[in-house]
Amino acid sequence: MKKNIAIFEGNRANNYDDFAAKWIPNYDYYIDMLPKLLNHTDEKNALIVGCSTGNEMKALAQSSEDWSLTGVDPSPEMIALAKEKLRAFSTIELFTGKLEHFKNTTFFNAATLSLVLHFIKYPKDKLALLQQVEKRLKPGSPFIIMGIFGNGEQLRTNLEVLELLLENTVAQKEIDERFTRIKKELHRTSEEELKKLLVRAGFKPPTRFFQTSIYSAWITHKID
Ligand SMILES: C[S@@+](CC[C@H](N)C(=O)[O-])C[C@H]1O[C@@H](n2cnc3c(N)ncnc32)[C@H](O)[C@@H]1O
Repeated sequence: MKKNIAIFEGNRANNYDDFAAKWIPNYDYYIDMLPKLLNHTDEKNALIVGCSTGNEMKALAQSSEDWSLTGVDPSPEMIALAKEKLRAFSTIELFTGKLEHFKNTTFFNAATLSLVLHFIKYPKDKLALLQQVEKRLKPGSPFIIMGIFGNGEQLRTNLEVLELLLENTVAQKEIDERFTRIKKELHRTSEEELKKLLVRAGFKPPTRFFQTSIYSAWITHKID
């Protein structure tokens, strides 16, 4: 059976933090911005979709003990790593499974979807995931989305930038393999398509607040 690359298993889970530090310039800076961007919500109750090893949840939990955080990820290995990383914090819930299978009736005040959407091939499935997020949020809630966004030309030129930003210890062969994978196996969304999908799912047009080579992060709000 063909492996589902969207679900991080085995070594891909165990090595995820090193992978992010190596291949996503300023990943930590992005994670550290989340508390500032979300701290103004009245009730601190956030849904972290594709939480993986729990980096977003840890940054929020450390910023204020008022946060109640729910992380959802279909990879049991990722959830186990998140549990370990977050064991010092009490108001954490972790669910192993896809968001659509999370039978929780809470309405959240904030949500993030970081580095997940480009694993989803078809626009209709991207839309379905965004709708799953939307229906779990209170009206007006902020939603942060981060991933590979842009058209083919933007991807091409920003891969050149990414190569310049990598540590010079990364071997050329490894770079070539990773970039081929990004071009052939990951599914970037153009900026126009992202806006369209978010608006169709029930969000306001998004604002880009961060970009690091091929990766960008956007903030939007559920329609009031
Ligand atoms: C690259 S990791 C993202 C990590 C994390 N959000 C971060 O910022 O570092 C992508 C994660 O999304 C998870 N994932 C894939 N499809 C998902 C879905 N439908 N619902 C929730 N999580 C999903 C994968 O198992 C994987 O752990």
